[in-house]
Amino acid sequence: MVLPAQRVVQPLAALPSSHASPHAAAHAASPGGFTPGAQAWLARLGGLRNMVRQELVSRQLDEQLRARFGVAAPLRVLDVGCGQATQALRLARRGHQVTGLDPDPATLASARQALALESPEVQHRVQLLSGSGEDCGRWFGPAAFDLVLCHGVLMYLPEPGPLLAALARILAPGGLLSVLVRNGDGLAMRPGLAGDWAGAVAALCGGDNSGDGAERPDYTNRLGLPTRADRRETLTRTLAELDVPVRAWYGVRVFTDLAPDEAPLPGEPELSALLEAEERAGRSDPYRQVAALIHLLGARP
Ligand SMILES: C[S@@+](CC[C@H](N)C(=O)[O-])C[C@H]1O[C@@H](n2cnc3c(N)ncnc32)[C@H](O)[C@@H]1O
Repeated sequence: MVLPAQRVVQPLAALPSSHASPHAAAHAASPGGFTPGAQAWLARLGGLRNMVRQELVSRQLDEQLRARFGVAAPLRVLDVGCGQATQALRLARRGHQVTGLDPDPATLASARQALALESPEVQHRVQLLSGSGEDCGRWFGPAAFDLVLCHGVLMYLPEPGPLLAALARILAPGGLLSVLVRNGDGLAMRPGLAGDWAGAVAALCGGDNSGDGAERPDYTNRLGLPTRADRRETLTRTLAELDVPVRAWYGVRVFTDLAPDEAPLPGEPELSALLEAEERAGRSDPYRQVAALIHLLGARP
């Protein structure tokens, strides 16, 4: 599908863009939110784990974009919870018109710094806005975007439904929704492979130690934050109900999830071989089923 050239999508109403936005303040006050871990997240971006995550997601996304839109299309993209804007900037360098939206002041500042280092052409294709994804329907009309990304966000929310419903509404017919979540079907892998047997048993029993028998894939993430995983079957059902059925899914970080936070990148040719191993595992059963993260791509008919 080849789309006409697009301009970056302008919000329907004024969006808060200052670091003191009410949205950022509300988010920071939420006990399960991301903000308490923002500095630790930013400090680890150069490590192996994040590099594998971003590179794998980027390759998987490119594959699906080629299949859905062909190579030439400049798409209208919204990256919800864009953080430091790794994927937003990659897409803008490929010619797409990208809006990054994030409620956290520190990560948004990091995104602005990264954007300032890009060429004027790329800067012209990107806007960075402060706000929560759940509110995006207030600023953007139905079908405003061809591609919506929501990577590493749902784990910080009490439930995925409201945000996914808001994103489904602004996705254009034929559009793609790319969702990256902590894999609720593989939660025992991280503690188990690290020799944390109590943690592994808790994860196998439903994800926490409450003992109430509830199906609750909760965990404490590597930033030390209480977070929530999602099971693929449940997300697949939710997306189908929102008329964005899953057309492909991948695992992300099958082999390198236990690397230390600050583990540096290996040199070549080891790095290429590592990425090839991760990429192949991320598309193959049974490996992808227990990846640390799963990447689901839903398509609006
Ligand atoms: C772990 S970072 C991921 C950043 C980026 N998407 C990536 O994958 O590299 C999570 C981001 O989600 C943002 N976030 C948390 N709750 C959000 C919400 N309700 N709406 C939009 N973004 C949110 C945080 O501020 C943070 O920047």
